[in-house]
Amino acid sequence: MQRVADLDTPVMVVDLDVLEGNIKRLQDDIDSLGLASRPHIKTHKIPNIGQMQLKAGATGITCQKLGEAEVFADAGFEDILVPYNIVGPSKLERLTRLARRAHLTVAVDSEVTARGVAEASQEAGTNVDLLVEVDSGGHRAGVQTAQEAQTLARKIADFPGVTFGGFMCYPSRPPMGDLFAEARDLLQRDGVPVTTVSGGGTGAQRVSKETGCTEHRSGTYIYNDLSVLRSGKCTIDQCAMSVLVTVVSTSCPGYSTIDGGSKTFTSDALRRDDSNGYVRECPDVYLERMNEEHGVLSLSKLPAGAPRPQVGEKLHVVPNHACGTTNLHDVVYGYRRRGGEEVVEVEWPIPARGKIR
Ligand SMILES: Cc1ncc(COP(=O)(O)O)c(C=O)c1O
Repeated sequence: MQRVADLDTPVMVVDLDVLEGNIKRLQDDIDSLGLASRPHIKTHKIPNIGQMQLKAGATGITCQKLGEAEVFADAGFEDILVPYNIVGPSKLERLTRLARRAHLTVAVDSEVTARGVAEASQEAGTNVDLLVEVDSGGHRAGVQTAQEAQTLARKIADFPGVTFGGFMCYPSRPPMGDLFAEARDLLQRDGVPVTTVSGGGTGAQRVSKETGCTEHRSGTYIYNDLSVLRSGKCTIDQCAMSVLVTVVSTSCPGYSTIDGGSKTFTSDALRRDDSNGYVRECPDVYLERMNEEHGVLSLSKLPAGAPRPQVGEKLHVVPNHACGTTNLHDVVYGYRRRGGEEVVEVEWPIPARGKIR
C-alpha cells in the first residue's frame, strides 16, 4: 500500500471520490437542463479522466490547442471541439490530419481563418465543422455583433471542405441570449441552419441554457480550485486536486516556507492581500508569496497559540488555478481516504501537459 503521505514532494494529488462526485454532479445538472456536455480537458489533460467524463454521459470533449487534441485522438477520442482560431500552414496541415481520424469542430472568428481551414480541408479531402466564435465580453476573440456572425456564417456555408455548425462563446454570459437569438433569426431567413450553440464556464451551465445554448463546456469543475471556491461555485469539500508540499524552513519569523513556488503552482491569479493557495491542514496560514521554488506561508493570521507548520511537515495546498498547475506537472496521483489514510490507487501521467501548439 502506498500512502500519499510518503510521496516525494511537491506532487499533484487527486481525491478520486471527490473527482467522481464532481463528474457526476455536473453531468446530472447538464442532463437536467437538456444540454449536451462537452467537458474541456485543459484542466486535467489526462485521457483516462476524459474517458470517465464520456462514460458519465459527455458527448465529446473540448481541447484548447491542436497538440492537446492530437494526444486525445491518439487515445481514441472521436469527437473533439477546438474552440480556437487555427492559423498558419503547419497547423492547418495538422488539423486536416486530425480530421481524418476524429470528428473535428473548430471555432473561427474571421473570414481569413475560416477560409484557411476550408482550403486546407478541401485539399486534404476532409470535412471540418466550423462554429463562429462570438465575444461574450472577455474581448480575447470573437465577432462582436449578430450581423457579423451572420456575415461570417454565410461565407462559411458557401465554402467547400467545411460545414457551418453554429456559434460558440466563452464564458456564457446572460446578454448572449439576445445576440444568439438575433443571429439565429438572421440565418434562418438566409436558410442557413444553426445546429450547435456552445457555451462554457464552470458553474455557468444554467446561463448556457438560458441563453439558448445546445451544449456546455466545463473545465475547472473537475478539480475545482481556490478561484472557483472564492467565487462561491464550489465548496472546499468539492476541491479534488491539491499539491502535496513539504515545509522546508521556519527560520524567518512569521513565516514557514514550502518546497513549491511558481514552478509548482504557476503565478496565475496571484493576489497581494490574500492567500494564493488553500492549506487544508491549516486554513489560517496563507500562501503569501512565491519565488520559483519557494512558497512563503504567512503565519500572521494564525490564532495565538495555534501550532505553526514545522520543518518536514507535509501539507495539501489547493492552488489558485488548477489548470495552470496541471500544465507544470508530469504526473498526478489519485487516492482514496481509507481508514484515516490517503491511499494511492493510481498514478496517471499527464500527456497533454505543455501542448501549447
Ligand atoms: C473556450 C473555453 N471553453 C470552456 C472553458 C472552461 O471553462 P471553466 O474552466 O471555467 O470551466 C474554457 C476555459 O478557459 C475556455 O477557454
